Amino acid sequence: MSVPSIEGIRRILVVGSGTMGSQIGMVAALAGYDATVQDISEDMLARAKADLSARLEANVAKGRLDAAEAGAALGRLDFTTDLASAAAGADFVIEAATERLQVKEQIFAQLGQLAPEHAILATNSSTLGSSKVAAAAGRPDQVCNMHFFNPALVMKCVEVVRHQETSQATVDTTMELARRLGKEPVLINREIPGFIANRLMGAIQREALALAAAGIASKEDIDTTARAALGHPMGPFQLMDMVGLDVIDFIAQATYAETGDESDKPDPQVAALVAAGKLGRKSGEGFYRYGS
Ligand code: 3HC
Repeated sequence: MSVPSIEGIRRILVVGSGTMGSQIGMVAALAGYDATVQDISEDMLARAKADLSARLEANVAKGRLDAAEAGAALGRLDFTTDLASAAAGADFVIEAATERLQVKEQIFAQLGQLAPEHAILATNSSTLGSSKVAAAAGRPDQVCNMHFFNPALVMKCVEVVRHQETSQATVDTTMELARRLGKEPVLINREIPGFIANRLMGAIQREALALAAAGIASKEDIDTTARAALGHPMGPFQLMDMVGLDVIDFIAQATYAETGDESDKPDPQVAALVAAGKLGRKSGEGFYRYGS
């Protein structure tokens, strides 16, 4: 089945309503698309809805967004637990569920059955190349990675990663959709652990962790250096706390499992914090402590 050109993309479904999924859904609605965020958990959906409403309200209060525009965008965004009906009307699906292959395989198998034949099925995964779920979907040429960055409402980059069977039409429509969502897509021609951004980020984080572990400088001073000398918006320890130390640890585990490269080995400082339930901002403490 041939995939639609960008004009044929009208309704976008995002599977998963965590930090990434909910904001990707909002990005789509703000760009004028009818969008649905689907999750198996009513609680997660309620939290996502409240969080997004608060963010839009704050943007209106700051004069960044017109109140009517915010209202219209929220009106274009549905939240549901019903995957079957949400998928049935979708031209483009972005899966942003938990980073577990088994879960993703199951979702792609369902989407392969439930979504219209023309629909493109993308995964937001940062660690699992879409080739791993393409077969389950039963339409491998219409599957790719569309990897957004945290916070998705703000960060401009989207990594589009093709696997061996991804069709050129799928790549073209996905790249153009990212542009229509106000993003700057980059194309990655071959699946490689970490794609581009997480490889760059990983290199900086590895060095920062090694400097701190050797007592060369404090994490605060390392973060200050990244900001004040290199112009990074956040230092590496602040960024790890924002992304989530469980996510950082998971990325390292997945990368190491694939490459076997010693330099990709999960960092013991990060692993110890995760084991202690200190996951970064979302749990109130990681490398730093956060107020409520
Ligand atoms: N969610 C949504 N919006 C957010 C946000 C969040 N968590 N945090 C901040 N924002 C918005 C604010 O509302 C504000 O919007 P406005 O300009 O319309 O008012 C804007 O971002 C700027 O926020 P602030 O002025 O409060 O704060 P900063 O100027 O410090 O910016 C930041 C915050 C955008 C997060 C900035 O510090 C930054 O760019 N940090 C680096 C982020 C980064 O590197 N992300 C990539 C992570 S790697 C990844 O996602 C890959 C994955 O696979 C792990």
